[in-house]
Amino acid sequence: MLIRRLRSWELPEHEATPETVFLNRRSLLAGTAGLIGAAALGGPAAAQRADPTFDLYPAKRNESFALDRAITPERFSADYNNFYEFGSSKSVAVAAKALKIRPWTVVVDGLVEKPFEIGFDDLIRKMPLEERLYRLRCVEAWAMAVPWTGFPMKAFLDLAKPLGSAKYLKMQTFLDRSVAPGQRQVWYPWPYTEGLTMPEAANELTFLVTGAYGKPLSNQFGAPLRLAVPWKYGFKSVKSLVRFSFTEERPKSFWEALQSSEYGFWANVNPKVPHPRWSQATERILGTDEQRPTLIFNGYGEYVADLYKGLDSERLFV
Ligand code: MTE
Repeated sequence: MLIRRLRSWELPEHEATPETVFLNRRSLLAGTAGLIGAAALGGPAAAQRADPTFDLYPAKRNESFALDRAITPERFSADYNNFYEFGSSKSVAVAAKALKIRPWTVVVDGLVEKPFEIGFDDLIRKMPLEERLYRLRCVEAWAMAVPWTGFPMKAFLDLAKPLGSAKYLKMQTFLDRSVAPGQRQVWYPWPYTEGLTMPEAANELTFLVTGAYGKPLSNQFGAPLRLAVPWKYGFKSVKSLVRFSFTEERPKSFWEALQSSEYGFWANVNPKVPHPRWSQATERILGTDEQRPTLIFNGYGEYVADLYKGLDSERLFV
């Protein structure tokens, strides 16, 4: 039996395209304007069609990761980003286009059997790609729900082969002041760095993201490779990764180095632990005025609560 699976931009889950828009799109697609039209409607932009991994999308959805809310339409999530390398406003999509995402090399070093470098296009084809619907809760008290494509960090650990002495995984973003104006601001501790304990890294939820909305990541989302750890505040989900280092010492993350009283290493979502300057009890749903109650571990406690048993002396929720 021949089954044609719709690409996710052809029928966004909670946003069936009205027929008039659909017909417009058809006629637009006949000409060059179609590419612009397709992008505006959430279809792949020219850069994404030219991506050497475009054939891998859409990946099959892993239905285990269900949402309690609608997917955030791409026109909101792709237009309201934190990517300080390209500025401190939320409108970084245009500036982030300056990032050249090919060739892209990922370094694996530190406490591993054998350090190595691998091209992103080789890496992705070794990994089991799938789509997962995840919530993201920013420490700034807004939230979104995105269909990410990527592979479990566990599969990457199997490739990296960390030694038993590795206690932490440190992850770093590219450093290139010539394309990222934010990195010329020397008071920030570039490159953007984040860390996880090895049990956190190996957790089933920890996901390395290569795409969103059924196509390769657009730059503002952190192309070509970013992290998604949905039970933690969004700043832990580091973008545009170039280095994975396995260490014995706890890495100091970007925001922790800047202001450790407000942004800690653990950063697990908890409605009852306010940020020093605002409440975390509720969250604004991106693209709406809706406020929802924040959930402990962002609703992912069944996967991750056990990771924190016996760590009561740590600042687990900052
Ligand atoms: N990664 C890098 N390299 N630079 C950043 O500024 N911002 C973080 C995180 N990863 C950031 C980053 C923050 S604060 C959040 S909330 C999320 O990315 C936002 O992801 P989004 O732009 O895809 O919504």
